Amino acid sequence: MWQFIVPIICVVAIVNAEDPYRFFTWNVTYGDIYPLGVRQQGILINGQFPGPDIYSVTNDNIIINVHNNLDEPFLLSWNGVQQRKNSLEDGVYGTTCPIPPGKNFTYIMQMKDQIGSFYYFPSLAFHKAAGGFGGIRILSRPRIPVPFPEPAGDFTILIGDWYKTNHKVLKAVLDQGKMLALPDGVLINGLGSNGAWFTVEPGKTYRLRISNVGLRNTLNFRIQGHTMKLVEVEGTHTVQTTITSLDVHVGQSYSVLVTADQPADQDYYMVASTRFTSPVLTTTAVFHYTNSRKPVSGPPPPGPTDVQWTNLTASGPRPNPQGSYHYGQINVSRTIRLSNIAGLVNGKQRYAINGVSFVPADTPLKLADYYKIEGVFRVGSIPDSTPRGRSIRLDASVMGADYRTFVEIVFENREKIIQSWHLDGYSFFVVGMDGGSWTPNSRKEYNLVDAVSRSTIQVYPRSWTAIYVALDNVGMWNLRSEFWARQYLGQQFYLRVYTPVQSVRDEYPIPTNALLCGRATGRRL
Ligand SMILES: *[C@@H]1O[C@H](CO)[C@@H](O)[C@H](O)[C@H]1NC(C)=O
Ligand SMILES: *[C@@H]1O[C@H](CO)[C@@H](O)[C@H](O)[C@H]1NC(C)=O
Ligand SMILES: *[C@@H]1O[C@H](CO)[C@@H](O)[C@H](O)[C@H]1NC(C)=O
Ligand SMILES: *[C@@H]1O[C@H](CO)[C@@H](O)[C@H](O)[C@H]1NC(C)=O
Repeated sequence: MWQFIVPIICVVAIVNAEDPYRFFTWNVTYGDIYPLGVRQQGILINGQFPGPDIYSVTNDNIIINVHNNLDEPFLLSWNGVQQRKNSLEDGVYGTTCPIPPGKNFTYIMQMKDQIGSFYYFPSLAFHKAAGGFGGIRILSRPRIPVPFPEPAGDFTILIGDWYKTNHKVLKAVLDQGKMLALPDGVLINGLGSNGAWFTVEPGKTYRLRISNVGLRNTLNFRIQGHTMKLVEVEGTHTVQTTITSLDVHVGQSYSVLVTADQPADQDYYMVASTRFTSPVLTTTAVFHYTNSRKPVSGPPPPGPTDVQWTNLTASGPRPNPQGSYHYGQINVSRTIRLSNIAGLVNGKQRYAINGVSFVPADTPLKLADYYKIEGVFRVGSIPDSTPRGRSIRLDASVMGADYRTFVEIVFENREKIIQSWHLDGYSFFVVGMDGGSWTPNSRKEYNLVDAVSRSTIQVYPRSWTAIYVALDNVGMWNLRSEFWARQYLGQQFYLRVYTPVQSVRDEYPIPTNALLCGRATGRRL
């Protein structure tokens, strides 16, 4: 209804005019929602919770005019959309000025060289606990082969843990330096027990695009009596393994194929339940066969109890537009070791990476960089590895990196929580993952041949995960914990991928509709 396509039009920023445009007008409002049976203040997009899906095709230009009708500043960000050369449109506090209440801002971005399943979410305050999220799908262009037949249907499935508490109250708890209690339940597409229905025809195969849009918990996803075939992880087609359940860590997206091949006179549970928690929170949706005569009943199937090391092997060599698919043969120029810690600063709970807990500056870092405004941030304000001692300091942490370098990042989790990291602007190769401590010897077990490329990766308790990333996208990119309270209380920083050459070949200039704020107020666009 809000989406239409026109062939070519002149828009206010540099985008590729040969590629199609899709225009969206989104009205962001508060509205009553009842996902767990009690009335809550939800964040709606065009009256919907969750928000509408973005349907797109590789290289489409996406123009979204977002009207903020909340009573506070608002921003949307795009988990997994790489925003090539375009970090000013990334929609996080370090890149983009918040949209003031009653105002609007038009995001201008391109789904450059990407395919796959992603989602958008509200990035400021604790808005994510109130909704404002929705699915993003980027389809392959016509004639580009997809390694499985066209499914009979394609469903977005947004799963996530959920609080009955108002998002402003949750934020106030965190602002006081306290920890949040465990969430109250789990939602599937914004609905509680058996709220969401997915209707299937017997014998047909469906694609399910599953994203964990929740706040902290890994969720196990399964369908009673059915197996699933894993086919895509955040933009990479995988080796197609058959699974009975799938762990989706917070912030992650997967596609599976499911064939409606069970006795068709009944319905089946679709289940999402928390992992590694006590108690286990569970919710169900209905996998409804068109000719079913029997509703779901009885207890839903239980989830696994051991750790699942999902085999995430890519489906062999494929052309990578960024030209790094022989990633195992490229020499690593730098190793960055990031470890998460929790602790108190001035008696308040904070979370840090390498001893630094991020606090936003008064001006988006990218704008300060663009206008060369001194004193907003310092490149190098977060070290490449954890210093001795366990003290935490606060800073608008920015790590510098040179454009076109190839780096190894080791995420080291010495805590007993499960961690999930996301890097904006990129997808990276997940080369290794194991329990215990990482040492240079751990490199011997790296997958240097056919690892998946993705943008969100889990690190198991007291374990490590290693990634390789080709820094081929100039900009200011957020690296954050997807554990939302940790992100909010400082477990994030910005990676400034820099080149001294200023050229639109490497980075787009500031769009003419950009909002300016803080010390960038009044600058020339
Ligand atoms: C957004 O929705 C609100 C509430 O329904 C309405 O008052 C407002 O006019 C809408 N704004 C736009 C730009 O559609
Ligand atoms: C706000 O929306 C109007 C149309 O409703 C549009 O002309 C204008 O460019 C938008 N402003 C920004 C900053 O995108
Ligand atoms: C993952 O799957 C691939 C292809 O089926 C197989 O060759 C590889 O050994 C598997 N890796 C692990 C760790 O199980
Ligand atoms: C990587 O480094 C090795 C040893 O220094 C060198 O022989 C090789 O040519 C380098 N490979 C690439 C692709 O630069």
